[in-house]
Amino acid sequence: MSLLQQSPLGTRSALYQLHSESTSDNKQELVTGLRQSQAQINPKFLYDALGSCLFDAITQVPEYYPTRCEREVFDHHGDAIAAAVGRVQTMIDLGAADCMKAQRLFDRLRPEQYVPVDISVDYLKTSVMRVAALYPELDIVGVGIDFFQTLALPKQVRPDGRLFFYPGSSIGNLNVTQAQDMLKRIHEACGPGGKLLLGVDRVKSAAILEPAYDDALGVTAAFNLNVLRHANRLMGSNFDIEDWAHRAIFNVDESRIEMHLEARHRLKVKLPDGDRIFEQGESIHTESSYKYQPEQFSQMLRDAGFKQISHWTDSKEWFSVFAAVA
Ligand code: AVJ
Repeated sequence: MSLLQQSPLGTRSALYQLHSESTSDNKQELVTGLRQSQAQINPKFLYDALGSCLFDAITQVPEYYPTRCEREVFDHHGDAIAAAVGRVQTMIDLGAADCMKAQRLFDRLRPEQYVPVDISVDYLKTSVMRVAALYPELDIVGVGIDFFQTLALPKQVRPDGRLFFYPGSSIGNLNVTQAQDMLKRIHEACGPGGKLLLGVDRVKSAAILEPAYDDALGVTAAFNLNVLRHANRLMGSNFDIEDWAHRAIFNVDESRIEMHLEARHRLKVKLPDGDRIFEQGESIHTESSYKYQPEQFSQMLRDAGFKQISHWTDSKEWFSVFAAVA
């Protein structure tokens, strides 16, 4: 893996972009997905600049409970969480974005080094500068990697006393096999005595889950539809937002919320390798968000090799936070 960019932001912070995907890789991935009989778009394409803003807006709509429930757990059980996690030397934040979730824990966990990881350092740059100004003593190493592909970190990331922080039920985007594999890779990257602090959404009724992914204001619909504009920019396709409807369905058998974009009528879309016909009602699957029972997730943590598993939940028991030792 090559070091593509290192930009010192001051004496104590640095940014590394390791391995960035080429536009032709993205184009190929989009075309392959859209050519399948159940067309699909990788959820990572939801997060262009506008998509990231829309996701932030989702976390503020009343129907989308995960962000608030998780915050309640960190607020109400902060002491117990800090005790379970113990001494933290390096806090590695998977999917850090604006770094706010980690920042809220700094005073309790007191890391010496903070490693925000996100797919692109461009977005991390502003967050890292903000955190650096607030915590001048903190050694900050921003890392741009697709951590679904690799957890290989630059050598500046200290090996001892690692805490992997993986909040927000981001792991829910992976299917169960991929999630199990991800936990194993985190376990490996933890090193001896390393810890994991993770948030995961729980199974509940469709009556609660579906509105959370189809809010009345239409923010989630906008977030989902925006992926088509991003795809148009990446591969020169001609998706028209007007032709598509947002759908959120709880698939009980798979225990996952599925987001789809459904063709409002029969239509033809221009892709780089030719036209693709969509029949009326045919959909593009854009995201799955898996929901877990706490017992099942504990078992997955044990299977990945984690020990001393602690679990907390919010007052409604809608969201779970786990701490575990590698
Ligand atoms: C960022 C993957 C945790 O699955 O709840 C929110 C993304 N999609 N609303 C989730 C999302 C639609 C979110 N994760």
